[in-house]
Amino acid sequence: MAALDSAALVAVIGAGAMGAGIAQVAAQAGHPVRLYDNRPGAAAEAVQGIDRQLARLVEKGRLTASSHAAIRQRLLPVDNLEALAEARLVIEAIVEQLAVKQALLRQLEALCDDDCILASNTSSLSITSLAAGLRRPQRVLGLHFFNPAPRMPLVEVVSGLASDPQLAATLYATAKAWGKQPVHARSTPGFIVNRVARPFYAESLRLLQEGAADCATLDAVLREAGGFAMGAFELTDLIGHDVNYAVTCSVFEAFYGDSRFQPSLIQKALVDAGHLGRKRGQGFYSYAENSERPIPAELQSQAQVERCVVEGHLGVMQPLVERLRKQGIGVSERAGAGVLSVGDATLALSDGRLASQRAREDGLRNLVLLDLALDYASATRIAISLSADCTAQARDQAVALLRQAGLRVSLLADLPGLLVLRTVACLASEAADAVLQGVASAADIDLAMRAGVNYPCGPLAWADHLGVGYTLRVLDNLQRSYGEARYRPSLLLRRSHAEGGRLHA
Ligand code: NAI
Repeated sequence: MAALDSAALVAVIGAGAMGAGIAQVAAQAGHPVRLYDNRPGAAAEAVQGIDRQLARLVEKGRLTASSHAAIRQRLLPVDNLEALAEARLVIEAIVEQLAVKQALLRQLEALCDDDCILASNTSSLSITSLAAGLRRPQRVLGLHFFNPAPRMPLVEVVSGLASDPQLAATLYATAKAWGKQPVHARSTPGFIVNRVARPFYAESLRLLQEGAADCATLDAVLREAGGFAMGAFELTDLIGHDVNYAVTCSVFEAFYGDSRFQPSLIQKALVDAGHLGRKRGQGFYSYAENSERPIPAELQSQAQVERCVVEGHLGVMQPLVERLRKQGIGVSERAGAGVLSVGDATLALSDGRLASQRAREDGLRNLVLLDLALDYASATRIAISLSADCTAQARDQAVALLRQAGLRVSLLADLPGLLVLRTVACLASEAADAVLQGVASAADIDLAMRAGVNYPCGPLAWADHLGVGYTLRVLDNLQRSYGEARYRPSLLLRRSHAEGGRLHA
């Protein structure tokens, strides 16, 4: 399907943060663009703002002065809706209120040609509801950009119940021609990213609430072991707790209170206190002048380790063996259940059980559970938790081994699934459910999470790497530990495992 011709007029309504960014993207892609806002002067101000952005690109050598002038020529602020009548594509980015957006769409339908595409940048409203009652609901779709629109590659092309698939294909091709990375999604709460990302915040918030460690330590583990660009606390401080909490509440309500999306009381308290994050100078962290960022906790060890034993295959942790050898540690191998032993300590990848529970059930002494790392060959930190019987000496030996391999070691309280492992398992389960329910394809979901929120790996590809069966076991164990439906694994994980398959073809 072909993209809209770049000569086609694009109208953008709402000249706030998103509308201005989208207008810039369309104009940079060669379209004549008209920008309208119902607040007098707002569209003209936004165009001046875009002009300044473009001038900065010219200064940095990323845009020529003549392209700047041409883009500026194509971009016209207008002060009445009628000036948009000839648009082939209208993208609304006005206030996030269903009734206000519906009223605008009704006006546009009366004003524009029958073949004009009416797109909404809504992040939480149903495209089906937006289109309801219109004469041509098939022409209404979601075109969900991420903030800031000129920089973020992802665009979710969202189809409501009545949306025409041909138009979804046109918008997909158009977003691609604009240099974006589009994905298709069916209109369901949170679309792809705002749904699948919920556990990223929820699991850190829960671990904080249950005393696993402090914010700085948990953030460092997600960054330095998980490979995420930011931890959940620093990221929500940046997004704003009011915004992040509102998205969680809206998805939770839209799914009829499904516990998988349950908002966090810790975050609510921040919102209630006005500690909204960076923009207010205080969130989980303080941004006041002279305030120092807390240092992530890490264990030290006086022990010196010369050898260890690998019992069986360590699965995703196997690259650790090579890393140990490179540091001159003698590694002997024997058959076993996939654990690593050093001195009195037994080290194993968490399977979603508590360390003390697993030690008792599997007859293991001095058990040191390791968290998941994105890549054990290059991670710089790892989280561990200890069984209650683990002696100080055994702990020191385990910590020494990991430190000698070049890993900082952060201790978490004995909670099931540590941090990266349970976060990734829950993300994968949510992503799998979205596939099962036909919200989007596995490929598009993984792409969306990488391009929209910068995940280092798509959750489904990550589950494939970890093993679908292993991911399932972690979730089953989490569900058993907490006794909550929140951790129930997606049926798609169970089915893929039963079929001996993977989540990605
Ligand atoms: P904003 O508050 O910065 O801008 C909204 C603009 O729309 C304002 O300039 C306002 O004067 C104008 N407006 C309000 N009602 C109007 C009407 N009836 N007709 C014409 N103009 C009207 O909001 P923002 O952040 O740009 O969000 C706009 C839309 O984009 C919302 O639907 C939001 O959910 C969505 N969105 C926001 C993202 C974000 O990070 N801010 C990310 C993705 C989507």
